[in-house]
Amino acid sequence: MFEFLMGVEFLLLLLLVGVSGATGYAANHLKYVGESESSFRIWLKAAKVGVYIGTALIMIWALDIMIIFVNYGWLFIMDRVLNLLPLLSLPAAIVLIFALPNLSRETNKKSLLFFIVSVHVMTVGAVLAFFLVTVDIPAVPNTKDILIYGGALIISVGLLWLYHGRRLKVLENRLPRISIRIVRGAVYLILVFGVAITGLVISQKMSEFPDRMNMVHHHTADFGGGDSILDENTNPHHDSHDSNSDSKSISVVELKGPQTDIPDKKYVLYAETKKIRLASGESIEAWTFNGQSPGPKLVANEGDLVEVQLVNKNIDSGVTIHWHGVDVPNGEDGVAGMTQDAVMPGESYTYRFVVKEAGTHWYHSHQQSSIQVQKGLFGAFIIHPSSQHKTKTMDTTIVAHDWITPDGRNIPALDTADTFQRKMINSGTPVRLRLVNADNLTRTFSLNGVPFKVVAIDGYELNEPGTLTTSLLRIGGGGRYDVEFIMPDTAVTLAMLMEGKPIGIVYSPDGHGKQNVLDEGEILDITKYGLPAQASFNTSTVFDRTFTLILDQTYFGVYNGEAGQQWVINGKTFPDTPTLMVKEGDLVKTTFVNRSFADHPMHLHGHHVQVISKNGKPISGSPLVLDTVNIEPGETFEVAFLANNPGLWMDHCHNLDHALRGMTMHVAYENIYTPFAIGSETGNSPE
Ligand code: C2O
Ligand code: CU
Repeated sequence: MFEFLMGVEFLLLLLLVGVSGATGYAANHLKYVGESESSFRIWLKAAKVGVYIGTALIMIWALDIMIIFVNYGWLFIMDRVLNLLPLLSLPAAIVLIFALPNLSRETNKKSLLFFIVSVHVMTVGAVLAFFLVTVDIPAVPNTKDILIYGGALIISVGLLWLYHGRRLKVLENRLPRISIRIVRGAVYLILVFGVAITGLVISQKMSEFPDRMNMVHHHTADFGGGDSILDENTNPHHDSHDSNSDSKSISVVELKGPQTDIPDKKYVLYAETKKIRLASGESIEAWTFNGQSPGPKLVANEGDLVEVQLVNKNIDSGVTIHWHGVDVPNGEDGVAGMTQDAVMPGESYTYRFVVKEAGTHWYHSHQQSSIQVQKGLFGAFIIHPSSQHKTKTMDTTIVAHDWITPDGRNIPALDTADTFQRKMINSGTPVRLRLVNADNLTRTFSLNGVPFKVVAIDGYELNEPGTLTTSLLRIGGGGRYDVEFIMPDTAVTLAMLMEGKPIGIVYSPDGHGKQNVLDEGEILDITKYGLPAQASFNTSTVFDRTFTLILDQTYFGVYNGEAGQQWVINGKTFPDTPTLMVKEGDLVKTTFVNRSFADHPMHLHGHHVQVISKNGKPISGSPLVLDTVNIEPGETFEVAFLANNPGLWMDHCHNLDHALRGMTMHVAYENIYTPFAIGSETGNSPE
């Protein structure tokens, strides 16, 4: 429904550009009809019809926007009302109310001029509106945009008046010869294309990242309605911690885990290239940790001090490790160019942190993450709760991932199994399946043959989750669901549903069970699942800062030197996306609105967010505390967090291809700076 309404809007605006262009063409001919009454009447009629059709299109557009408003809310349409509506409706109103009624064969030149100009201004308004929606989405209306586009419309009035006024005099009502008109048309066309292409080339060049730049940009600081906390120490040019800077200012490298204590768990991860073989026999040129992908499963207990040494054997572009879902100190977060430099071949880097978040998490490289995660630099990270006593639970982790063959085919798999697998589990055994989505795209899972519960999401244990039988589980990119059931005497089929054949695992007591895929069912709405319980935030919490973030796609734009479709936050791509400024201790609310046609799993580093409401309704099930909130087209999520982990934190879409195309921003605490930078000179490229 949402996609339909947005698609209709796009088509209406496109159509409007065409219709008002044709109307402008007809109106223009009124200058050249000379003594011929019949031809005047024909062109006037054509122009009138055009104006009426255009007006009708604008009214249908307004109706479409109204329907979006009623169903999805004000945040979805505020730019349409404040930026687009005036551009479309004012010129149309002027044509209809003032210009059209006074027009006839006896009309003097002045009112003819008025009519032609106002019809052409209507065309300009339609083109500007179309440009806004496809290229320069305002999202959050601001005076600057209103002035620029409103100004452009007003300037066009002046220019058109001069142009047509001059021609009306000079040509004395004669249409110029066809050859002249063709030449003139060609010159205009070349001019328009010339300007457009030059503009594109210039903006493409200008969008290129410099050789060195800071990742956190305070020029787009957003204080979320709280007090302004920018000061000298957080200014973007503050690259190094020189001795005379304020002592209050803290570098991310000082924000580390315990450096000297003896670790409870110690791992060494070697990043290296390695050919791996999928179950089907397909071979993949993977990038691995310790020669395997997914990399070794890291296991720790809540409260453990974990030490992981990363050794880069031969990944030329460098590697880091980010602990997805584990709220480590900022200096251990593994973001190349923000919390460390990428670890180059032959180098090593040691991470040390105490783990507090029990549950299913994962780790992955955050250097060129869209490429490196795709190639296999990731693994599961399981933290057992301290209270857990040993049971005979069969605990298994399954990581969904999309592999790409050397010849460019996509092969979705569970771990490396791209075909159906069979596994044996004794009946009566309690089973915990930890499903990790290490993909960019949302994945849908089904479990057939046994009643089950989703006991945890993103590692967070749900309160009183109910028993499910036919629900499908939709896990956004980067997200995790833990599923529990008691193994029956008969076969249980876990499947990942996709276009084409599903893949999955058949569990059975004898290991020979027949696969029986459940491929239809209702998708589990996690905001209504389980029972409410005491939580940190609710709808009446008073927040220190509230941020509104509108996720859009533009049809065309430039990003870091490349032209194409863009994924934008509040109308902008990184580094022009807002930087959310917070102070330690702040209660922060962020509202995410997805107006695009794709899911956006928004992941905040270093914190967990509690979901307060979805689509304006408070959540009614178990409290939900997530690190990756998957927001589907047309959805609004209000999420809240306590700012209790000082640092500079990425907040980005975990469809890593979207992050690569600009859907990245940061949460920045006051008085924290980074000595690291991104750009070709630094070798750091976190996306
Ligand atoms: Cu799992 Cu910034 O990423
Ligand atoms: Cu996205």
